[in-house]
Amino acid sequence: LSRAKLPFVSTQDQAASEQWINALGQAMPTETIVRLQDLSEQERARCDVAIVANPDPALLRLLPNLKWVHSVWAGVDRMLAELGATDLNIVRLVDPQLAQTMAEAVLAWTLYLHRDMPTYLAQQKLGLWHAHDYIAPQDKFVGVMGMGALGQAAASKLLQANFKVGGWSRTHSQLNGVQSFTGVDGLVQMLEQTDFLICLLPLTPDTRGLLNSAMMAHLPTRASIINFARGAILIDADLRAALDAGALKHAVLDVFEHEPLAPDSWHWRHERVTVLPHCSGPTSLETASAIVAQNISRFRANGTLPTTVDLKRGY
Ligand SMILES: NC(=O)c1ccc[n+]([C@@H]2O[C@H](COP(=O)([O-])OP(=O)(O)OC[C@H]3O[C@@H](n4cnc5c(N)ncnc54)[C@H](OP(=O)(O)O)[C@@H]3O)[C@@H](O)[C@H]2O)c1
Repeated sequence: LSRAKLPFVSTQDQAASEQWINALGQAMPTETIVRLQDLSEQERARCDVAIVANPDPALLRLLPNLKWVHSVWAGVDRMLAELGATDLNIVRLVDPQLAQTMAEAVLAWTLYLHRDMPTYLAQQKLGLWHAHDYIAPQDKFVGVMGMGALGQAAASKLLQANFKVGGWSRTHSQLNGVQSFTGVDGLVQMLEQTDFLICLLPLTPDTRGLLNSAMMAHLPTRASIINFARGAILIDADLRAALDAGALKHAVLDVFEHEPLAPDSWHWRHERVTVLPHCSGPTSLETASAIVAQNISRFRANGTLPTTVDLKRGY
């Protein structure tokens, strides 16, 4: 009997799906990867694994013997919300290349804030020649929320750039040179000394709305926020109020509750906000496909699954 085909399940448009199918096919020459829509009922019944990118849950239900799915995205919040109650094994993308790309963005935008670029941009518009005092990175503290694959890579890069770095996570993180914080008390302690707050948490029931006005009030007024995780972790109206009141200096936002950000959204024109179009950690088709290929091939060889998402925790 020939090997079961490997379905790709996605709500993306056909061109995007085909790009993925091509890249995955090149990484897995012994697999036959096709859109789920192109499989017969008998072929579907033989599938125990599928590769997904924002899958339609109704389509996944067409695979009666599915044991697990491999997502090509790092974040699974949208998929979990759309799937509802499920006991499906979900594997998400953990790609060291993505972590490096994200860490580079964290360093770039931290330096942007550290060297006062928003201030100088505003001064240029006014034709104002005025140099501000310089404070060295070793005298500035960066707080990283979420010390997973992305948070750890970011923290390492920030250390190399001589910043003082702290990391907040559910369980203590063990990264040399990084002060570890846990729990609500730990978060408050970290925020109180933070100059630049980097959010790299997954969106879960516990982190939704975590950065509200009460929490942001623990940040010094000189502090700025960089949100590269998910828009809904930060309460938008509370952020605006804090920025307007001068309780926060600046926010660099790459993610929003509704994307793309609407043209009439207040963020675009707020002088204390830098808007980015969800570009901080783009997935590389090539490296992501290689990682999916490795995981699928291990499963085909001996039935082992990579670490799956903890459905209770939501990440
Ligand atoms: N903007 C972009 O382009 C982009 C690209 C890729 C990913 N992302 C986002 O980045 C997120 C993080 O990715 P990742 O690969 O680093 O995830 P990860 O490896 O699962 O790490 C998550 C981290 O958050 C911590 N955490 C989770 N819930 C927590 C809570 N309630 N309290 C305290 N800490 C908590 C975890 O603590 P423990 O270590 O104790 O488990 C862990 O350190 C993704 O979920 C995705 O939404 C954004």
